[in-house]
Amino acid sequence: MAQSFTIPFGRPYLTGREQTLINQALTEGYLHGNGHFTKKSQTELQTLTGCQKVLLTHSCTAALEMSVLLADIQPGDEVIMPSYTFVSTANAVVLQGGVPVFIDIRPDTLNIDENKIEEAITPLTKAIICVHYAGVACEMDTIRSIAKKHNLIVIEDAAQGVEAYYKNKALGTLGHSGAFSFHATKNIISGEGGALLVNDPEWIDRAEMIWEKGTNRKKFLLGQVDKYSWVDKGSSFLPGEVTAAFLVAQLESVKEITEQRVKIWNHYHHVLDALEKQEKLIRPTIPTDCQHNGHLYYILLKDGAQRNLLMNHLRQQGIQPATHYVPLHDSIAGQRFARTSGDLAVTCRVADTILRLPLFSELAESQIDFIGAEIEKFM
Ligand SMILES: Cc1ncc(COP(=O)(O)O)c(C=O)c1O
Repeated sequence: MAQSFTIPFGRPYLTGREQTLINQALTEGYLHGNGHFTKKSQTELQTLTGCQKVLLTHSCTAALEMSVLLADIQPGDEVIMPSYTFVSTANAVVLQGGVPVFIDIRPDTLNIDENKIEEAITPLTKAIICVHYAGVACEMDTIRSIAKKHNLIVIEDAAQGVEAYYKNKALGTLGHSGAFSFHATKNIISGEGGALLVNDPEWIDRAEMIWEKGTNRKKFLLGQVDKYSWVDKGSSFLPGEVTAAFLVAQLESVKEITEQRVKIWNHYHHVLDALEKQEKLIRPTIPTDCQHNGHLYYILLKDGAQRNLLMNHLRQQGIQPATHYVPLHDSIAGQRFARTSGDLAVTCRVADTILRLPLFSELAESQIDFIGAEIEKFM
């Protein structure tokens, strides 16, 4: 039987408005996609981020797949990305026959190391996908200027980046496109869910066709054609209205939810300060240009053995910590479909030594104090 924990790793937060809005969607009986809850979510996200075109999707995975279609990745095209990420970042490229090229991450933010991008560029390179780990921005000015110099597309995997900023600009709005996740483990949720932020105005028309299974249904809805038909590649990327209604309820409280998570994050940071000063562990680094969203709190330990022992110790106290990504270059599919550029030493070390600590809206400061005390006891 699975162990139950007094302090679980995460717990989805409900604002209390979800049921009302879901019931409204059910009563109205318009249950497929692109109804008024979808439009409302999109407008709210546009206002929140400043992006001029947001399309709701059924997942961040879908938004990444749309981005790769929009970037027109062809078989053999190379896309530079970190190995330290979720499978969807690379899978989206592989589905179109593209080749992920994995490079190392920075030891401070655990984001793609912008100083290793240029050496990975070849005549086949078409795009860079940056992943804003833990809702902390990648070094976007440098990445964008490299992309401009080499004529590359930038896609932001901002799965964890809702309501986080780089130089006061919302994550997801800094590349040609950005992808959000509203999966139940994220800050703002709809069970499964996501959004595509289309930042390049030249991509908007095509994005709407790809979103609607490769058809010109939008033109039909606007009365511009009397039948809609197949005009491009596409798929079924829309969520239904019940999911969108759930998301509207969450977006009403986006500021409060983020504020609460950042408060929890800050308390962890305070509690673990002394242990970092004693060089017992490393806490997350937030560069001054970045405003994060408290998506996750992690610590880095001395080595993998110590990390695993600490994880067991915390589990015995009823606390549920978690490791994170298995580097993609080490995975079966990564070895089959991708290649690496340079040494991935930081990626491998972080994968072995990272420990994520419980973080959810109802986590009490006293529980964080208890977790901190148990880490200290272990040390
Ligand atoms: C970096 C990253 N990209 C993409 C995804 C996929 O998100 P979704 O489950 O919404 O498809 C995740 C999920 O955790 C993620 O961490």
